[in-house]
Amino acid sequence: MKTIAIINQKGGVGKTTTAINLGAAWTEEGKKILLLDMDPQASASAALGVRDIEAGERLFQTMKEKSKELANIIVHTSCNGLDLIPTSGHLGQAESQLAGKAGCQTLLKGRIAKLEDQYDYLVIDCSPSLGLLAINALSAADFVIVPMEAHPLSVEGLSEVMGTIADVTDAINNPLQILGILLTRIKSGTNLTKECVGMLSDSPVYSKHLLTTQIRENIKIAEAPSHAQPVTVYATNSSGAEDYRALAKELNQRIGGMS
Ligand SMILES: Nc1ncnc2c1ncn2[C@@H]1O[C@H](COP(=O)(O)OP(=O)(O)OP(=O)(O)O)[C@@H](O)[C@H]1O
Ligand SMILES: [Mg+2]
Repeated sequence: MKTIAIINQKGGVGKTTTAINLGAAWTEEGKKILLLDMDPQASASAALGVRDIEAGERLFQTMKEKSKELANIIVHTSCNGLDLIPTSGHLGQAESQLAGKAGCQTLLKGRIAKLEDQYDYLVIDCSPSLGLLAINALSAADFVIVPMEAHPLSVEGLSEVMGTIADVTDAINNPLQILGILLTRIKSGTNLTKECVGMLSDSPVYSKHLLTTQIRENIKIAEAPSHAQPVTVYATNSSGAEDYRALAKELNQRIGGMS
């Protein structure tokens, strides 16, 4: 099993959308995917039709107590091959209650080992912050994907998340690798998109991470969560479904080249 954290401290850039739809696209290739909702907003859980107000407390207790196992809080979703560890607002207490405790940055890492044989990928949907939950996700991850909106101002925000990734790589989890920067909500042909792609391609730091696949703006992507389905199921021939399938294939190649 490879673990992939989806992270950006900026809100609304397509982290949750990518976690769900990339996972769902991989299930079409016959892969087994576990999606871990590490965001107290619980958007990924809600988008897959799981609304359980106790879920965040269970996840928090499972991270905290060595005797508890993640396997016991996994639920199946309506998408075959895509399982979920749901959450709720209660997970927010983790940031304050765990801060400063010994080993608080690597609690998750200690819990995922037992899932190793059951899934091809563990995909972690992070909240729009770089707090303790995000650090736990990065510490547990082999790879990280940074989704961002194709806007020149978003390029400036990248340095913060890249800095955090570098800090965790140095301090905790050396093999953490950047799988890619993913441009989302693309409105083809606009000047903002061109300017943003130009800035990233010209950058010696970012260009090697920029993924070829771009996720276009597509209304079916936005509609799918109300139907508790990934876009690949809700609108299987939509551009959104196509883009996430293309992303899954590009990442297969990158992961193959990096592992
Ligand atoms: N390619 C797309 N086309 C249309 N709508 C999209 C697309 N990607 C994301 N959205 C919509 O944009 C909104 C924000 O996306 P999403 O929830 O995935 O962002 P996020 O980064 O997870 O946000 P947060 O930081 O709050 O967790 C959602 O309503 C989602 O449906
Ligand atoms: Mg989200």
